[in-house]
Amino acid sequence: MSPNIIGAPVRAMLVLGTRPEAIKLAPVARAMARSPLFDPIVVTTGQHREMLQQMLDLLHVPVHTQLDVMRDRQQLSTLTARLIDGLGETVRAERPDLVIVQGDTTTALTGALAAFYEHIPIAHVEAGLRTGVLDNPFPEEANRRLIGRMARWHFAPTPRAAAHLTAEGVPDAEVFTTGNTVIDNLLWVLAEGTGRSLFESELRRVLVTLHRRENQGATMRAMGGALRRLADRGDVEMVLPLHKSPAVRDALLPELTGHPNIRVVEPLGYVDFSATLASCDLVLTDSGGIQEEAPTLGKPALVLRTTTERPEAVEAGAARLVGTEPESILEAAITLLDDPVAYERMATAGNPFGDGRATDRIVAQLAEDFGADAGPEGAVVPLVGTPGEGPGSYSTA
Ligand code: UD1
Ligand code: UDP
Repeated sequence: MSPNIIGAPVRAMLVLGTRPEAIKLAPVARAMARSPLFDPIVVTTGQHREMLQQMLDLLHVPVHTQLDVMRDRQQLSTLTARLIDGLGETVRAERPDLVIVQGDTTTALTGALAAFYEHIPIAHVEAGLRTGVLDNPFPEEANRRLIGRMARWHFAPTPRAAAHLTAEGVPDAEVFTTGNTVIDNLLWVLAEGTGRSLFESELRRVLVTLHRRENQGATMRAMGGALRRLADRGDVEMVLPLHKSPAVRDALLPELTGHPNIRVVEPLGYVDFSATLASCDLVLTDSGGIQEEAPTLGKPALVLRTTTERPEAVEAGAARLVGTEPESILEAAITLLDDPVAYERMATAGNPFGDGRATDRIVAQLAEDFGADAGPEGAVVPLVGTPGEGPGSYSTA
């Protein structure tokens, strides 16, 4: 990659539209904002509305362009059409030096496609995750494979993710194993220590999140039934920050409303969610990001899905893939609550998703490939923030 314009910062467009994209691109945006080498241009698509809005403070970069594509219960085809239209226009207007997308959402796929159509190189953060099943998770497995065909930089969180890419024919020189930026952000937020846990009692604390499209409807209703039966034990305090999706609410609320041991709450901001996760005993989730965060904090995670693109946590022993059948969910949860040895084994298995310096590696690689001088020390800038320098006290000094 040749240098862009001598002395001009690299104009990096970060495209984000959902909650996890904001969380996982926030450290990259912060690092680029601190560096004289980069000019970060944040574009939000509004694929999520409230759930994105509550994450934007993490970026420390003002939003440059804000699209507003969310519609209630929107079909994927309509969402995709709105996104490619709005992002195409934005990329043409700004002509950045590169476009950065994260993960596997429809925002990420269309962000990459919009850049590709304008011959602008694409950096893919969290590249190479695969379940091997094209429609599970749906539509994310297809989205990430398609982004992988278009990207110039593939920032893989783990060696396994990197190996998937090379097996698919991506040149080694374009694949970089970095760790996952979610860990960078989590450590940064927890170091600040300002979050408030939602757990209130001395009961066994179970944190639950569910949202996957492939489970919506009858499967998710049955999963809700399993959660209610778990709470019926009486020794459990369950907190469930409920995704805004009406399809998720339709499935879960009838099962969970009114139970004395279940607190269903609106989605939490990241600072409070991290504190809630840090103070729980057990996690039940179908979330991608939470599968990465829970092992980092020594919280056993039961993955309520039939596939995972994060087998590293399962192999390390920090997570268990328990499926979506109510009986399997209940049995796995009860084992962990009742068997201290099984619990301890999972809680101490460790985190395979990175050391909190993924952002440093990503930004340094991009700086090098754009011919930017990283300075005599080699480090681009203090990238991720240091303890005590959390979201409330971040300074660009
Ligand atoms: C999306 C991503 C999924 C990611 C998840 C993170 C796709 C296809 N899916 O799924 O990969 O794991 O985000 O949470 O990109 N809604 C609101 N307010 C919000 C957010 C959503 O009302 O702040 C409602 C809207 O009715 C919207 C619906 O939820 O139409 C579904 O949102 P959508 O972004 O299409 O899919 P998610 O299931 O959130
Ligand atoms: N999260 C949050 N508040 C909540 C629930 C989740 O901040 O109420 C965070 C969580 O810590 C993780 C991310 O949101 O970093 C995961 O988002 P989600 O489960 O919606 O998406 P996925 O990771 O499955 O794509």
